[in-house]
Amino acid sequence: RMRLLGQLFWLLLLAIVPLILAVYEDYRLPSALKPQHYDLRILTHLNELRFEGLVRIHLLARESTRNITLHVKDLKIDEERTMVSSFQEENCVTSIETHDLYEFYTLHLCRQLDKGKVYQLEMHFGASLNSSDSGYYNSSYTDAKTKHVHNLAVTQFSPTFARQAFPCFDEPSWKATFNVTLGYHTNYTGLSNMPIVGCREHETLDHYIWCQHETLLRTSTYLVAYAVHDLPNRTTAADKQTPHNKVTFRNWMQPDLLDKEMQSLEMAPKLIAIFEELFQLNFPLAKIDQFVVPTHRFTAMENWGLVTYNQFNLAINPHDDLQAKKDSNAFTAGHEYAHQWFGNMVTMKWWNDLWLKEGPSTYFSYLAMDALQPKLKKGEAMIAEDLGNFFAKDSFGSMTAISKEVRDPGQILGQFSDYVYQKGSLMIRMLHKVLGEDAFLQGIRSFLKQHALANVVQADLWESMQKAAQQGKVIPADFNLSKAMDTWTLQGGYPLVTLIRDYKTGTVALNQTRFYRGKETEGNSTCWWIPLSFVRQGLPDFEKTIPQASLECPAKTQEVLTLPDPPSAQEWLLVNPQVSSIFRVNYDEHNWCLIKQSLKGDAKFGGIHKLNRAQLIDDMMALASVRMQSYDWAFDVLEYLRKETEDLPWKRALALLNELGALLSGQDKNDFKVYMQHLISPLYKRFSKLEIIAKTRPATEEISFQRFAYTQACHYHVDDCVEQAKALVISRQELPSDFRELVYCSFLREGGEVEFQLVLGLFKNATNDAQQLIWASALGCSRDFNHFKEFLDLTLGSKEKAVKNCFLAAVKTALSGDYLTSQTTNHILSHAKVIGEKFKKKELTSLLLRLVGQVKDSKVLEELNDQLKDIKPFKKPLKEALDLASINQQWQEDCAGDFSRALRKHI
Ligand SMILES: *[C@@H]1O[C@H](CO)[C@@H](O)[C@H](O)[C@H]1NC(C)=O
Ligand SMILES: *[C@@H]1O[C@H](CO)[C@@H](O)[C@H](O)[C@H]1NC(C)=O
Ligand SMILES: *[C@@H]1O[C@H](CO)[C@@H](O)[C@H](O)[C@H]1NC(C)=O
Ligand SMILES: *[C@@H]1O[C@H](CO)[C@@H](O)[C@H](O)[C@H]1NC(C)=O
Ligand SMILES: *[C@@H]1O[C@H](CO)[C@@H](O)[C@H](O)[C@H]1NC(C)=O
Ligand SMILES: *[C@@H]1O[C@H](CO)[C@@H](O)[C@H](O)[C@H]1NC(C)=O
Ligand SMILES: *[C@@H]1O[C@H](CO)[C@@H](O)[C@H](O)[C@H]1NC(C)=O
Ligand SMILES: *[C@@H]1O[C@H](CO)[C@@H](O)[C@H](O)[C@H]1NC(C)=O
Ligand SMILES: [Zn+2]
Repeated sequence: RMRLLGQLFWLLLLAIVPLILAVYEDYRLPSALKPQHYDLRILTHLNELRFEGLVRIHLLARESTRNITLHVKDLKIDEERTMVSSFQEENCVTSIETHDLYEFYTLHLCRQLDKGKVYQLEMHFGASLNSSDSGYYNSSYTDAKTKHVHNLAVTQFSPTFARQAFPCFDEPSWKATFNVTLGYHTNYTGLSNMPIVGCREHETLDHYIWCQHETLLRTSTYLVAYAVHDLPNRTTAADKQTPHNKVTFRNWMQPDLLDKEMQSLEMAPKLIAIFEELFQLNFPLAKIDQFVVPTHRFTAMENWGLVTYNQFNLAINPHDDLQAKKDSNAFTAGHEYAHQWFGNMVTMKWWNDLWLKEGPSTYFSYLAMDALQPKLKKGEAMIAEDLGNFFAKDSFGSMTAISKEVRDPGQILGQFSDYVYQKGSLMIRMLHKVLGEDAFLQGIRSFLKQHALANVVQADLWESMQKAAQQGKVIPADFNLSKAMDTWTLQGGYPLVTLIRDYKTGTVALNQTRFYRGKETEGNSTCWWIPLSFVRQGLPDFEKTIPQASLECPAKTQEVLTLPDPPSAQEWLLVNPQVSSIFRVNYDEHNWCLIKQSLKGDAKFGGIHKLNRAQLIDDMMALASVRMQSYDWAFDVLEYLRKETEDLPWKRALALLNELGALLSGQDKNDFKVYMQHLISPLYKRFSKLEIIAKTRPATEEISFQRFAYTQACHYHVDDCVEQAKALVISRQELPSDFRELVYCSFLREGGEVEFQLVLGLFKNATNDAQQLIWASALGCSRDFNHFKEFLDLTLGSKEKAVKNCFLAAVKTALSGDYLTSQTTNHILSHAKVIGEKFKKKELTSLLLRLVGQVKDSKVLEELNDQLKDIKPFKKPLKEALDLASINQQWQEDCAGDFSRALRKHI
């Protein structure tokens, strides 16, 4: 009977499913109609926080059909006034159907729309302006002088929110031209992607005007933008070196920000000039408005000609903002302007290939930063950081491809992850390094030129690159770049290459396998196309990144290569200079030995590039964690750090060591501290005393490394770091912002109630968000949970975003410290529901990762799971955190012993 019922069930299902499928091809619009042009009029009533609109869409019938389906969400449609016509004759609507899940709105028509003809659909609609930070939404600011609240309205359409502002074909491939006309009270200013053609009085409303904007080039709906507001503006002088174009720049922000120096906004003209030169393609619009929005869903948005920035993320307090925040502002500006080409001009067909705009925008922003601020080397530093994150994260079995199928709005939003941005950027970098500057730029330029104002899939990029590479004779004529690159973008993970040298014949044997930490995903053996570029000790040219050979996919079990310029048996051989491609390498023991000798014995580290030095450390520690090398061996190599002068290897090494250190307890923890002191001491000694740093603020390019070194040194009580810090606090010296947290952290860690109250007083007295955040982070270093708890309650209870953020900052410091970790963990668990409501998924994820990063007891993990598993906002963050936890647990079972023994040997 069971079986019979089962069959019935399936029969029913089979009968129903095709019916549904016949009507909608889930979440994707039918392709019978193609929008060509939108005439959009929006009348904004800011005093009533609502808007009404009229859209006329010109539709080309690609197939004959009797229905029109488009996107609508949360809009009130005036059905009486909906009209369909063919310019010659009227059509009419027989019935209307909505489908909330798919956010579809379907009109059934009296007469068929004929294939090949153009029709006009006219719809009237309206909605309230609420503060959802999506669609056409309301934001506001309080005038510092008058204390009046000023409302404004602005759009955030990416990725799927245009449908909340007007009925539209809200998929990136349906590009159309747009005539935007905005109506508003004359107290306000209206902005859209394009400049204004002209304004006239509203036909009935007093003091209201209609302003028509020039036609916007063929654009996807997610890039259309407008705003109605009363913000003042200031101009940015166009860059004199902008040769091709006379773009006008205006910046809009609330009055009390007008006189603040905002370096990243000032960079805009230079960035446009850099990219015009780099891409050999002019920015096509006449003006760019930079609009600082008090509340914003993201950090910034690249709308064509109307770039919006989240005010909260902007560094506006030059004396109190951290250098890292200023750097990230510069990066953001670079990223949004690179988008004007990658995304705005050339757009992915669908969100599965989001990386096609985010990857290049991220990477080219790094290049632009180094071009504009060469001394800071921030682009390079960010690439190094991305590499570190990538190698750690993409070793989880759960990581999936960056180009993957997404359908519903939730999945689409999920694509906007650090992982997609970082790996996407590393893909573009790989093409750059592997094809070389000339072929790479040639390929990028022809890709942009060929697909300008159109849509692409990743194969289009590969094709442009393949052509350029073949013309430049960088790759063999029969090489299939598309197939090769797909191995990186259509699957998660990355390979470990094992390289065994034959010291008699001079040949090398190589193979590849996916590198996992933790559980492997079962089933398929995976492989990659791996470009191989070799460097030998006698000729350490790390600029030679164009490959001499490659590993293929499907993979041979072993590839044996005869190198054109083989190293002698006394020289090391290194593969992958500058970590151009993203794979790990394990060498045979003798080669490792040779590398180690160079690192330890040579003042210039044998000429090994700093990115490779960082990667050698990373690979060594990773191999030890899967027991392919011993920690004894890894620690032996780490000794070389005592001579290391560059920040990139230091930052990677200490990040990795700190992660493991957090998992130790008892004697092991003490040993670890002693070891870290021994390791860091020479680095610490190289920098000036804190007192001198406090008096003479270090040069901008030195801040990041010095702050890092001092933070680590004081954390591990290296030499007189803590004493120096305490003396500074007692002398009440004003400190540069980047050094305040670490100084006060040391002060608090050694202190009691008096010290806590002093810093709490500073927190309460703080005159801006940046100051507040610094004191909040420092408070996490205190030893006394009773007082700390009060602080946590105070900040978590706040409605102000800046204050809530102080909660996160303080909690994160506490979780990385020695004293309050378990109490803070309990506090988080007991307030989980509130925390889940208050913070974004990204914030929750980083909080939980920090939390599990120091958990030594599996009971805590069980409790974590119990407490959080039913709280919806924690669903994904929890999964990520438990992934990490299981890897850490495995490490504790398999490796902790080896690690501790090695530690003891090296102290
Ligand atoms: C719209 O018309 C097409 C034929 O052109 C048909 O296949 C489809 O099912 C119709 N959609 C709806 C929602 O009725
Ligand atoms: C904004 O309005 C939409 C639709 O009416 C609603 O779903 C959403 O919850 C509102 N958001 C806020 C923050 O009020
Ligand atoms: C426009 O500004 C005037 C003067 O500032 C003010 O009195 C009036 O209420 C404003 N009207 C609207 C609709 O904002
Ligand atoms: C769009 O606006 C331009 C003027 O800016 C006008 O010439 C053009 O006819 C308009 N397009 C449509 C379809 O109304
Ligand atoms: C923008 O700034 C300029 C120069 O300060 C000023 O003349 C102009 O009126 C401002 N525009 C608006 C709409 O505020
Ligand atoms: C790769 O080669 C190494 C050394 O010869 C060997 O130990 C390892 O098993 C090989 N791995 C694979 C996946 O063939
Ligand atoms: C193995 O590969 C096939 C085909 O590429 C795919 O359909 C399947 O889901 C993969 N299995 C696993 C466990 O990844
Ligand atoms: C905070 O400000 C008050 C009043 O200006 C001052 O008396 C107090 O000393 C300040 N507290 C700290 C810790 O600076
Ligand atoms: Zn972006």
